[in-house]
Amino acid sequence: MSMPFSEAVWLCLAVTAGVGGIALCKYKSPGQLGSQVVCLAALWGGICLLRLSLFWILFLFSLSCFLLYMRSPSQELLPVDQKAVLVTGRVHCSCRVCGVCIQHWTGSFGGQCCGWNCGDSGFGHDLAKHLDKLGFTVFAGVLDEKGSGAEELRRSCSKRLSVLQMDVTNPQQIKDAHSKVVEKVQDKGLWAVINNAGILGFPMDGELIPMADYKSCMAVNFFGAVQVTKTFLPLLRKSKGRLVNISSMGGVFPMQQLAAYSSSKAALTMFSSVMRQELSKWGVKVSVIQPGGFRTNIAGTSESWDQKEKAILDHLPPELQEDYGRDYILQQKNFLRGIGTFSTSDITPVIRDVEHAVSAKSPSAFYAPGKLTSLFLNIAFFFPTSFLDYFEKKQNIQRKDMPRALSTPK
Ligand SMILES: NC(=O)c1ccc[n+]([C@@H]2O[C@H](COP(=O)([O-])OP(=O)(O)OC[C@H]3O[C@@H](n4cnc5c(N)ncnc54)[C@H](OP(=O)(O)O)[C@@H]3O)[C@@H](O)[C@H]2O)c1
Repeated sequence: MSMPFSEAVWLCLAVTAGVGGIALCKYKSPGQLGSQVVCLAALWGGICLLRLSLFWILFLFSLSCFLLYMRSPSQELLPVDQKAVLVTGRVHCSCRVCGVCIQHWTGSFGGQCCGWNCGDSGFGHDLAKHLDKLGFTVFAGVLDEKGSGAEELRRSCSKRLSVLQMDVTNPQQIKDAHSKVVEKVQDKGLWAVINNAGILGFPMDGELIPMADYKSCMAVNFFGAVQVTKTFLPLLRKSKGRLVNISSMGGVFPMQQLAAYSSSKAALTMFSSVMRQELSKWGVKVSVIQPGGFRTNIAGTSESWDQKEKAILDHLPPELQEDYGRDYILQQKNFLRGIGTFSTSDITPVIRDVEHAVSAKSPSAFYAPGKLTSLFLNIAFFFPTSFLDYFEKKQNIQRKDMPRALSTPK
C-alpha cells in the first residue's frame, strides 16, 4: 500500500532535481550562481525544519525552484551592432599593487609593467575597454581628458571609443559632452548610460564626518548621476535604451563609518527604482548594480588618508575632540585597511552584470556582484533589525576601540 506514496516521492525528487538544475543552469554569472545555490540550500533547510513529510518537502522545494526559474533573468542578449554607450567616472590606469603602472608603460620599463598584479583598476576603465571589445561605440566620460587613464583608453581601444571631458558635478561639462555625443551618434542614437562615477569619502563615525564630505558624496554619487541621467534621457527614450546606475550594497545594508557614502547611494538606488517605474512607459529599462567588496582606487591611498585625517582633526570642534579622543579618531582609517584585506581585485562579476544590464533582452532591475553581497542584502531585507545590527557589529572586527568618553570611567 505504501507503493503509490513512494512513487510520488520519487517523482517529486526527479522533478525537484530537474527544475532545480534548470534554475541553477540559467545563471551564467558565477556570482549569481553562488548566491542562488546558497538561497536554495537555505530554502531546503527551512522547509526541512518545518518537519513536513518528505513528499511535502520535495513538493515545496520544486515549487520554489520553479518560481526562482520564472523570476531569474534571461540570458538572451540583443545584438551589439555598434550601439552607443556612455560610461561616467574617470578611468584609471594603474597597477593595483604599486599604483604607478602607467608610468612604466610609457617610460622606463619600455612597454612593460611593474610585474605584479598589474592591471587597470576601477570599474569605469575595465567597462569602457570591455564594451569596446564587444563592439559597442563607447563614450568614456573622464575627470581629466589628458590624464593617463584617458590616454591608455585611446591607445588600447578601437577608433569607435571617444574620451569626453566630464566632471559629473559640472553641468556645463555634461552639456558639452551631450553635444559631442549627439554630433557623433546622429541618427544611430544613444543606447545606454552607465552612471559609474563615485567617491567614498573618508569613512568615519557619522558625527565626525564634516558636512562638506556629506555634500561632496551627494554631489558626485547622487546629484551627478541625476544630472547626467536628465541630460541624456531624451536620447535614451528615443532608442528605448538602458539606464544603468552603479550604486552600492552600502545603499541598502547599513555599515558603520559610511554614513555619507551610503546615504548618497541609498538616494541613487531609490532614484533608480522610481525612474524604472516611470520610464517603463517609454520602453527604457533601468538597472541598479549594487556591488560590494572590490579592490579599486575608491579607497584612496595612505597619503590621502593622512591628509584627510589631519584636515578633520584640525577642524573638529573641541567638544568632539574631547568626547571621541585622538586615539579613537586615528583608528578610523583601519576601516580602509580592512577594505583592502576583505576585497577582491577580480572585478569580472561587476563587468559581467553591467554587460547583462546593457545588452540582455530582459535585464534585471537589481544586480548584486560580490562574494557575499547577496547575503548582506538579504539580511538587510528579511532579518530583524536586532540581527542586522548584531551581524554588522560582528563584521566590524577592525573596531575594537571605543570613544574616550565611553572607555574612561567617570
Ligand atoms: N569598489 C567597490 O567595491 C564598490 C562597491 C560598491 C560600489 N562601488 C561604486 O562603483 C563605482 C566605481 O567605483 P570604483 O570602485 O571603480 O572606484 P574608482 O576606481 O575610484 O572609480 C570611481 C571613479 O569616479 C571618478 N569620479 C569621482 N568624482 C568624479 C566626478 N566629479 N566626475 C567624474 N568622475 C568622477 C573617480 O575619479 P578620481 O579617482 O579622479 O576621483 C574614479 O575614477 C562608484 O560609483 C562606486 O561608488 C564600488
